[in-house]
Amino acid sequence: MSPTAAGSYAPPAAVLCGLAGWVPSRVVTNEHLARRLDTDDAWIRTRTGIRRRHVVDPGQSTSDLAVEAGRRALAAGTGRVDAVVVATTTPDHSCPATAPAVAARLGLTGAAAFDISAVCTGFVYGLASAAGLIAAGVAERVLLIGADTYSTIVDPLDRANAIIFGDGAGAVVLRAGHPDEPGAVGHFDLGSDGAHEDLITVAAGGSRQRSRPGEPSRQDRHFAMRGKEVYRHAVTRMAASACAALSRAGWKIDDVDHFVPHQANLRILHSVADDLGLPRARCVTHVESVGNTGAASIPLALADAAARQALRPGDRLLLTAFGGGLTWGSCLLTWPTLPAPARLYDQPPHPYDEPAHPYDQGERTTS
Ligand code: UT7
Repeated sequence: MSPTAAGSYAPPAAVLCGLAGWVPSRVVTNEHLARRLDTDDAWIRTRTGIRRRHVVDPGQSTSDLAVEAGRRALAAGTGRVDAVVVATTTPDHSCPATAPAVAARLGLTGAAAFDISAVCTGFVYGLASAAGLIAAGVAERVLLIGADTYSTIVDPLDRANAIIFGDGAGAVVLRAGHPDEPGAVGHFDLGSDGAHEDLITVAAGGSRQRSRPGEPSRQDRHFAMRGKEVYRHAVTRMAASACAALSRAGWKIDDVDHFVPHQANLRILHSVADDLGLPRARCVTHVESVGNTGAASIPLALADAAARQALRPGDRLLLTAFGGGLTWGSCLLTWPTLPAPARLYDQPPHPYDEPAHPYDQGERTTS
């Protein structure tokens, strides 16, 4: 417990003490997609800002990426971890959760372990959950991983979505600390609006579809998104959520050195920054290199920015996410002194040049 100005005691805060990202080495460029879809590099870049994305190889799953990112975040010697939380929309299985297997593979058997399902807002929901575990005294240290393999649920023949999404994982370690110290995450804003659940869906695979007779259609087995409506909601909900978190903290927009939004689409990020009155140069972007990586996108953007030394101790950050559900969330933190994150991949990026790969055959489906 931490002493407050009034002499009473506040619960401990969750303080960022480790960070890493990892993406599979296989790269899919816009040119590559244009070879098999009715699209082109210029359309993709002007509509989304994306130039390439990384995808898993056959047999690789979300937990494989989560373990790589988690191991790197823990490598900084952050000490014992009491809880492992994995935010994902693409768990290895619908049952059980992915987090216990990730914990076991990281040598953390015995730690509490559970998944968070809040689509692209999962990482911010995960930060709030980790902060709650620490404040309640349930955990001293939490490993939070955002990991997704959208290439396993997006129809490779669906040009509207295949161009947007990529695979990756980002991980942070949070420890109990003082609410006023650098790295303390706080002043959250979280929300949802399930009346719009149909805007982003994978229709099959859950109890609703399974309770119906018959096999699901190819369309129902894949990710579906009503892009234009999602775009409008994303801009308004992210801006409103960012304002709510800032107001709770008593920060003005000028206090924000870095805005780290969910990396949905460069146009969305810039629109939100414009609506907030924030110079676009303060918007941390990574979407051009990895696409939209779902729950991994904010920690991957942080790891990339930290590796480029774009984040300095004492800088003030605003994190804001939006995703299916609909869900949204924001939180604030002051950047701590951290060990520099490792590179996002071990191997040099590997061109995606194997026509026999299932991603090219349009054969990937959910189980
Ligand atoms: O992480 C969760 C949050 N998700 C998002 O934030 C995604 C939000 N939405 C978006 O980013 C955009 O809506 C998209 C990038 C998905 C699409 O951009 P858009 O400017 O909204 O395009 P559109 O869907 O209105 O399509 C415009 C045209 C259509 O043709 P017609 O009907 O005007 O003849 C589409 O068929 O562009 C066509 N189109 C394409 N053309 C070339 C759609 N996808 C493609 C493509 N290449 N890949």
